[in-house]
Amino acid sequence: MAPRVDALYAYLIGVSIVFIALIAATLLYFVIRFRARKGNERAPQIEGSLALEALWSIVPFVIAMTMFVWGAKVYFAMARPPDNAMDVFVVAKQWMWKIQHVEGNREIDELHVPVNQPVKLTMTSEDVIHSFYVPAFRVKADVLPDRYTTLWFQATKPGTYHLFCAEYCGTEHSRMVGKVIVMEPTDYQDWLKYSAGAGEKKTASAADLGRVVFEKQGCGTCHRADNGPLQAAVASSLIGPPLKGLYGSTVELADGSKTEADETYIRESITDPMSRIVRGYPPKMPTYRGRVSQEKLLQLITYIKTLATNGTNGSSTDSGQAEPKDDAARS
Ligand code: CUA
Repeated sequence: MAPRVDALYAYLIGVSIVFIALIAATLLYFVIRFRARKGNERAPQIEGSLALEALWSIVPFVIAMTMFVWGAKVYFAMARPPDNAMDVFVVAKQWMWKIQHVEGNREIDELHVPVNQPVKLTMTSEDVIHSFYVPAFRVKADVLPDRYTTLWFQATKPGTYHLFCAEYCGTEHSRMVGKVIVMEPTDYQDWLKYSAGAGEKKTASAADLGRVVFEKQGCGTCHRADNGPLQAAVASSLIGPPLKGLYGSTVELADGSKTEADETYIRESITDPMSRIVRGYPPKMPTYRGRVSQEKLLQLITYIKTLATNGTNGSSTDSGQAEPKDDAARS
């Protein structure tokens, strides 16, 4: 993204310099030219000029529109992560960055990513507002409590890059810094394997950890996570919407409106279940706010996301059916 941001920035500066030069030159010329009058000589007054007024309205309008269109293009590119982006979760707190990879690896104040791979960060805060800022990538996004914000980048050169918190968040704000470490894909795979410590076995994936949260919190008492056969007694106790195929689908709500089941919606359904009730289900779910940490919440959502394509005991045909639907919803 850096070359695109820089090109736009250079254009804005360029336009500014051209106009500063034009205005300064005109000013200087008028100062000299019209100060040199003799005696009581008076300038003829000009009462309006349509051509001039049209010129100084249309030219700035056209220039402003080029800035708008160009800026909007860059903005949309920044706002929309590519479909093949790799997911990474970020939880900010006073005063550190906690990173979790889908594979289960966790790190603090460091983010390891492979080179030439789009990376999508889903971020939230445990306390106050922070801001995730990597100047070299020209990306920055506020990280808010009780909300998910996303940011994506694709690093093009291996190396170590600064990560800053760019929102004043308390005493140690200035020390809430970290590193983004961009690695060759093979090195990254090695890092994933061994980052838990030399010789240690690979950590459980984020989705696996999420399944543990799912079971521990008893989510399955009300929500089905699979497509397997059920006893009638069990089926009647499932009073919540099923979760398989939920992520990326369109959900119809009790008030007739529709919403896309993205990370934000699933998160809200867990922490604030009364806010959006799914059509046909009783408003019975208690809030899990404060009962599940931000990191566990992200793991839980990662687990629910995996249910979109493959159920815990779903067959391969199931995943084959669910996948195009997911893609269609996302596109
Ligand atoms: Cu976190 Cu400033």
